[in-house]
Amino acid sequence: MNETLRILGIPGSLRRASYNLGLLRAAQDVAPPGSTIEIYEDLAQIPLYNADVEAQGDPAPVQDLKQHIRASAALLIATPEYNYGVPGVLKNAIDWASRPPIGSVLNHKPIAIMGASPGSFGTARSQLSLRQSLLFTKSYVLIEPEVLVFRAAERFDANSNLHDQATRTLIRQLIEGLIHWTRELQAAGEAPRAVAAA
Ligand SMILES: Cc1cc2nc3c(=O)[nH]c(=O)nc-3n(C[C@H](O)[C@H](O)[C@H](O)COP(=O)(O)O)c2cc1C
Repeated sequence: MNETLRILGIPGSLRRASYNLGLLRAAQDVAPPGSTIEIYEDLAQIPLYNADVEAQGDPAPVQDLKQHIRASAALLIATPEYNYGVPGVLKNAIDWASRPPIGSVLNHKPIAIMGASPGSFGTARSQLSLRQSLLFTKSYVLIEPEVLVFRAAERFDANSNLHDQATRTLIRQLIEGLIHWTRELQAAGEAPRAVAAA
């Protein structure tokens, strides 16, 4: 019997009523048995990346982020799109987590991406930009299904809970794909297994 697969959900928005945080709550609802999704809600604590600060040792919030990533078999990132790109808070967190480049907690980590936007393109451009950054980290970013939630206002309620059934089904398919791929990569020795906190 497979052990429970721990997935860390990372929202790229600090907004209380974030659609992207809502996507991750929906992911928790629809995750198949045998998997758990924890949402990382402390991105606001992470300082701006500064190599001088890093040289003194990772600040506590960065250590916490890295530990959460290490303790998870896979990541599920829900990103907004800001000016056709990845929001600064998310990119900053990835920059910290990507250090050091050799031996980073992101190396060979299976990752799935999704995103919601009120506009018509559903974060297509920021997702591509995120994929580009995650090339350098040598992460294994799932190719499909693409989850591009456009015209988000029509799919979420006033509390940013996702009520659109088709989108919930698509998220379930994304998680199933991520789980399948993570298990395959782990079996092949290509992806790190989750390391529990000390
Ligand atoms: C600085 C800024 C830039 C934005 N740029 C884009 C954009 O390029 N494309 C887009 O679809 N929406 C853009 N938006 C709108 C966001 O998609 C919208 O604020 C969305 O709700 C943010 O995600 P959240 O609900 O998870 O916080 C932008 C919003 C801000 C604040």
